[in-house]
Order: sequence, then C-alpha cells, then structure tokens
Amino acid sequence: MVKRNYSRREFVKQNTVAGLGAFAIGASPVLTDIGIKRADKPAILGGTPVRTKPWPHWPNWIPSTDEDQVLKVLRSGIWSRADVVNEFEKKWAETIGTKRCLSVVNGTSALIASLIQFDIGAGDEVIVPPYTWISSIQAVLIAGAMPVFVDVDPDTYQMDPAKIEAKITARTRLIMPVHILGMPADMIRIMEIAKKHKLLVLEDACQAWLAEINHRKIGTFGDAGCFSFQNSKHLPMGEGGAIVSDNEEFIDRCYSYHNMGFPHGAVIGAVGSGAVMMGTKMRITEYQAAMALSQLGRLESETTTRNKNAEYLKSRIKDIPGIVPYRLYDNVTRAAFHMFAFRYKKEEFQGISRDTFLKALNAEGIPNLSGYAPFLNRQPYLKNAFQSKNFRKMYPVEMLDFDAYVKRNLCPVNDVLCEEAVWLMQNLLLGTHADMDDIAMAIDRIHKNAGSIKSS
Ligand SMILES: Cc1ncc(COP(=O)(O)O)c(C=O)c1O
Repeated sequence: MVKRNYSRREFVKQNTVAGLGAFAIGASPVLTDIGIKRADKPAILGGTPVRTKPWPHWPNWIPSTDEDQVLKVLRSGIWSRADVVNEFEKKWAETIGTKRCLSVVNGTSALIASLIQFDIGAGDEVIVPPYTWISSIQAVLIAGAMPVFVDVDPDTYQMDPAKIEAKITARTRLIMPVHILGMPADMIRIMEIAKKHKLLVLEDACQAWLAEINHRKIGTFGDAGCFSFQNSKHLPMGEGGAIVSDNEEFIDRCYSYHNMGFPHGAVIGAVGSGAVMMGTKMRITEYQAAMALSQLGRLESETTTRNKNAEYLKSRIKDIPGIVPYRLYDNVTRAAFHMFAFRYKKEEFQGISRDTFLKALNAEGIPNLSGYAPFLNRQPYLKNAFQSKNFRKMYPVEMLDFDAYVKRNLCPVNDVLCEEAVWLMQNLLLGTHADMDDIAMAIDRIHKNAGSIKSS
C-alpha cells in the first residue's frame, strides 16, 4: 500500500537492516520503490519516468482468433444486414439478459431511435445528468424533447437520485440515467422514482457493457438500454450501437424505424406495400457484426480483469492525500470501468493545478485524461436548438428563454467535478498488479514532490 508522507530519510531510518538487505539482494521491488523511486526527481523536472514500458494496446485485435469470421464475411460479398447481424443481436440479447436486441449504426442512434419509438418528442421533458458524453443530450434534442439536468453525486459520478424528484414536472416523460465511465447509476432508486411518477426509463449504457447491480446486467432495469460499440469501447466495431429491451413491440418498432419504416414483427404491413411508418436507415454491416462476435468471447474475462485491477489500484491510491477515487454504490456487483476515475484536490498538492498534475503524470509514463468539459447544461448547442424553427413551434416562449433555462438547470456539483476529475483509460486496467503499482507510485511521487514542481 502507498504510505503517506514517507520520506526517504524516514524510510532509511526505519528500515536500515531489512532495507539494506533488500537492496543488497534486490529482493523487494516495493521497498526499492518506496526508498528510491518514489522520492526521486519527478519526470516533469527531468527525472527518470516511473514507467517507460508500453501499456496494453486498445483496440486489442488478435488476428489469429479474430480474423477468420471477418474474412469469411468479406469474401462472401454479403455485406449488408443479414445472418451475421442477426446472430450478433441474438448473442448480445443473451449476454445482457433481455428478450431482444437491435443493432444500429452507433450509440447516439440507439438513443434517438429509442426515444422516438417511446414517442418522446414535442413538449416532453427528459431528465438527464450533466456528466456525460454530449450524445445523451443531443439525442433528447433531436427527438424534439427538452433536456432537464439533474446534478451528480461527485463520489459515484452518476445522476444523484436524491435530486430527481424536484425536477419532475407535468411535462416529464422519461428519465435517462447514464452509467457514466462504466459505473452503474443507482437504478434501484431511479426505478422506484420512475414507477411512482409513471415515467419511462431509458438507460444510456453506452459505457457499461456487462456492468451489474445485484448480479443483474445494466440495460435490463429500464424500459430499454442502449450500448455503443465505437472504436474506444470495450466491444469495438469502429462505429456501432444496440438497443436492448424485453418489450418486443418496442424493438419491432425500432427495427422498422432503423429500416426505413418497412414492416417488421408487430409493425404490420401488406407484403409489397412499402413503408408503413416513419423511418430512417441505421443498419450495421455484416462485417461489423463479425468483428463484434470475434471479440465477444473475451469481453467477460477482460471485464473481470478491469474490475480486479480497479479495486487494487483504488486500494493503492486511496490514502494519498488529495486523491479521492470513485465510489460504487453498495449494490454494484460489477462495473465496466470504461475509465478509472478519481478526483484531484489541488489543496493537498501545494496548489498545483490539475493541468500540471496531469502533465506530471503523463511525464511519468501514465497516460491520462481530464474528463468531460464543464457546462454541458449550458453550452451553445442548447441555445441553438431553442432558436430553431422546430423548437419555437413546439414550446412556449418562456421555456425557450435561455438565461432562465440555464438558471433552472444549474448543476454546481458537476461544475466542480469537471474541474477535479482525472481519468485513466480502461486499457491501463488490462495490465497487471505491477502495472497498477506504477500508477500508484507515479501519483505518490508527484504528491511528494509537489512543492518542487510548483516552484519550478
Ligand atoms: C455515455 C455515452 N452515451 C452515448 C454515446 C454515443 O455512442 P456513439 O459514439 O456510439 O454514438 C457515447 C459514446 O461515447 C457515450 O459515452
């Protein structure tokens, strides 16, 4: 475990005999790390980086196991939606535990198709969190509905269920929890609130493949769940998405919608009569489905590895002052960990900015991200939507007053979270415990040397 305030001098004093022995025989990398590496000059000031070894690569395409099925499809000449897409949908529904799955061209389209087929649109309000990828909110606007922001719980990064009811109005039709960073939102409480107020629930599970609450998969709690299979995601096919649900009629409608409104299942139409409902084209290709099928076999074990490493890394860094790792709700039995997240408190790092901390971490060989940009609840895209002809026809003038909207949708906790969050990408979690030790050591080294970094 990383210990606090353990200077080199203290280390030598307390470990003279054992320490010398360890150094002499080179037996303990941990002791060596504590004694030398951690207190060393940080890489940002010219020291040797904690890590120079590359991290596990992502996407992890393995030609020997992954290419057969894809090549078969490529050589068949059948590239538009057919049997392989059907097979993938069947397998994804089985994997998640829903009756049905429909694949579409990306996660954004999965959300749009779902909202439209739940008949969410003009005059409706949809409850959303501000700490998410912009697609969650754009989907609501594209459907013609009004996003209503509920602030987040900074420990879990998720929509704060305690703040939902205050935002429910006569116009509210749907809650969209987003299992952001692959950590489950509090679905038990959200479903209770939805039931009480007779609201639909659409889970944005675009980052939450195989995550669970009480051993039940994310995506099965709400009326439907949406996934993304974009390049950086845990089951990547370049661009792709899926809708899962037990509501067969809903999935049939989504199917028809994703296929230009042609009849499908419960969407009945006479053979040859053409399209029977409004629709668009959102079909994935056979080779994309083959790519996903090839990689699906290892999603389970990779998810386990990410969980184990996240837990271990959390235990290694939780005692470093100024580092506040993510928290999972107590009923979460598994997360997807699209990111490993912690909050950075600069007060404990001699006031050095998050930006400098991230640069120092990068210099130590630990790639990182600062997470979502702030103010998704007040960026210009909202004003632009409100000024559009469609919105002006769909909503009363007072609902489109942007300044008033911003005031109604303030999310102060999220504003701070966006300034403090640090993300480590999921591929780092595919390494070993020793790799996690490198991360912990780099953070600790920066903490120990914050003063010299500041004055440099
Ligand atoms: C939370 C969330 N929702 C929606 C999406 C949209 O998915 P896609 O990029 O496949 O359109 C993403 C993708 O990053 C996401 O992270």
